[in-house]
Amino acid sequence: MASLTERIASFFSGNDSSTDEGLRDLFISELKRVYYIEKRAVDALGEQAEASTTNEVRSAFLQHQDESANQVDRLEEIFRIIGIQTEEQSSDAINGLISDARLVVTETEEGSLTRDAALIIAAQKIEHYEIAIYGSLLTLANVLDFTQSAELLSMTLEEEKTTDHKLTALAESFVNSRAREEEEQHPGSHHASRHPLHGSDADVTLGGPLGV
Ligand SMILES: [Fe+2]
Repeated sequence: MASLTERIASFFSGNDSSTDEGLRDLFISELKRVYYIEKRAVDALGEQAEASTTNEVRSAFLQHQDESANQVDRLEEIFRIIGIQTEEQSSDAINGLISDARLVVTETEEGSLTRDAALIIAAQKIEHYEIAIYGSLLTLANVLDFTQSAELLSMTLEEEKTTDHKLTALAESFVNSRAREEEEQHPGSHHASRHPLHGSDADVTLGGPLGV
């Protein structure tokens, strides 16, 4: 029986057809799953836009909803390129994240900045999940030499990262405006720690560095 190292070497030299087939199946099943996720995300972004307090957050959600609809089209293009039927594969993870995002609406006050901050946190959890899946799909596409699919996936991955950064910048602007309000109402009470730790272009989220 071949050792793992031998199998890996043989796979990367293009001589291991069973691993190749296994990875192709894995790619297809992840593709079906992200197709399901992206479609649910389009609906969720509409709900999040409707629930948001400020125009800035609403328009960020609506803009990403448009982008996500385009990402759904891109996934359909990948199904066509690799010659398999377009199909959804359910994901408990995204269903859970969307349920959590809905809870935010019931747990925060309508018309409050806290509502928007909470919506951003919920949206970023979904973004990070999507970034993880698209990143893995891109790696698989590269290993399998699915060049056209890899190009489409990397376009989407970049859009997801840009959205994540935009949401971080919006969240930071809330922290700043809240801090300004507090300073105006109670001069001298403003605590330095309420300032974001990083610049608005840094790879951070409300929850900390993402590292992508
Ligand atoms: Fe997306």
